[in-house]
Amino acid sequence: MADRTRHLIGLLLGAEEDWSRAFEAILSRVGPVTDDSGRVHEIVSERLTIEPFGLTDPVRPDLVIDRLAHWYYHPREWLKKAALVDGTYLLNSPFTFQSMEKHSAYCAMLRLGLHIPPTVLVPYKNPIDNDRWVYTAAKYNRTFDLDALADQLGYPLYMKPFDGGGWRGVSRIASRESLHRAYDDSGEMLMHLQATVEYDKFARALSIGPETMVMDFRPDQPMHDRYAVSHDFLSASAGAQCVAVSRVVNAFFGWEFNSAEMLVKGDAVFPIDYANACPDVALTSLHYYFVWAVRALVRWSAFCLVTERTATIDLHMRRYFDIADDEALDYDAKLAAYLALADEHFETERYWSWCAEHLPHLDELVLEWVSGPDFARLLRETVEATYPAHERERFMAHFAGLVGLWASDESARLKSHD
Ligand SMILES: Nc1ncnc2c1ncn2[C@@H]1O[C@H](COP(=O)(O)OP(=O)(O)OP(=O)(O)O)[C@@H](O)[C@H]1O
Ligand SMILES: [Mg+2]
Repeated sequence: MADRTRHLIGLLLGAEEDWSRAFEAILSRVGPVTDDSGRVHEIVSERLTIEPFGLTDPVRPDLVIDRLAHWYYHPREWLKKAALVDGTYLLNSPFTFQSMEKHSAYCAMLRLGLHIPPTVLVPYKNPIDNDRWVYTAAKYNRTFDLDALADQLGYPLYMKPFDGGGWRGVSRIASRESLHRAYDDSGEMLMHLQATVEYDKFARALSIGPETMVMDFRPDQPMHDRYAVSHDFLSASAGAQCVAVSRVVNAFFGWEFNSAEMLVKGDAVFPIDYANACPDVALTSLHYYFVWAVRALVRWSAFCLVTERTATIDLHMRRYFDIADDEALDYDAKLAAYLALADEHFETERYWSWCAEHLPHLDELVLEWVSGPDFARLLRETVEATYPAHERERFMAHFAGLVGLWASDESARLKSHD
């Protein structure tokens, strides 16, 4: 019998059933993958349960896709043990995400010369829960002029938590009165004030390893309508910058599964939010792009496991800063140089040629799956679990139409490659 290796992908899940079922369905159809030396690899997945673990207990999965540890800390600590003790491959490593909230990400990308809107961090509004606070604050907290800071940034401006996420505590502020009200309400949250970018387009880029989908996002729409299906909504230059910025941010921090939000004005790209450890991959919001995302998760996981890619622990920020400090390079040249480092990190070229050689059937089988009864059942059950009875028919038609559109575009794409 040929030499066979078995790889286990562990899924750490919260309440979602949609992408996880899609992932399991696609992975089970992929079948064994043969590597360059002729060795056969079998890749299976399992939903991980939460239980006591000893620090020297073996970790069974070779790779873990995490959608839980950002709010449930027992599995987060298990992931850290898996990263440090067992070298398990993680999407994503909790280390980078715990230390790199939105604020650090702004600082780092500012250092690289990306267009970060002017941003100020103001001290806590309310006393923090610590015996020493009263003394320390009385002695060292300088009074400051909130109005003057806001005047410098200009109205309207945004006030939002330094570690943001889920639109918690975000407000758009148009006047002095609302500025003071929002600051009073911020309570124990630590807040940024940020200049508003008046944008033409809001681009949301979902990245999985070296794959990136830049989507036309409409934050003011209800969830099921936020992503518009429009393929050429950015100029070629802005589109390329969005891909580059997303991949550079991810390579810089060692993130593999992340979404970046960028405001685009003409050809200028302003990243405003790009530390989303657990990006949205719900069928009911991604719709047209859902199958792309799950396929990318399967493809990248298979590549990492079969090629025995080493998990990222060290960040090589200095290499990026050396480019940032090179005065001979302008913005475009720097972005190109960062992207070259990012592509080296993600092995982008090797990834695509490896996929063409070792997973040649993936695109066809995904298309077949999404056009068949298994996906229809998944969609129906997802809609039933998400919407009240009187809205289900409308949403079934909405999502079936959009995913069907993806399938017909994908089918045309595959035919044009034949
Ligand atoms: N500087 C800015 N200029 C213009 N709009 C902004 C700016 N900052 C934030 N916004 C708007 O506010 C929304 C929420 O801000 P942000 O993404 O920073 O917070 P968040 O809590 O991470 O939200 P989410 O988790 O939904 O992405 C953005 O989607 C955007 O519409
Ligand atoms: Mg955001």
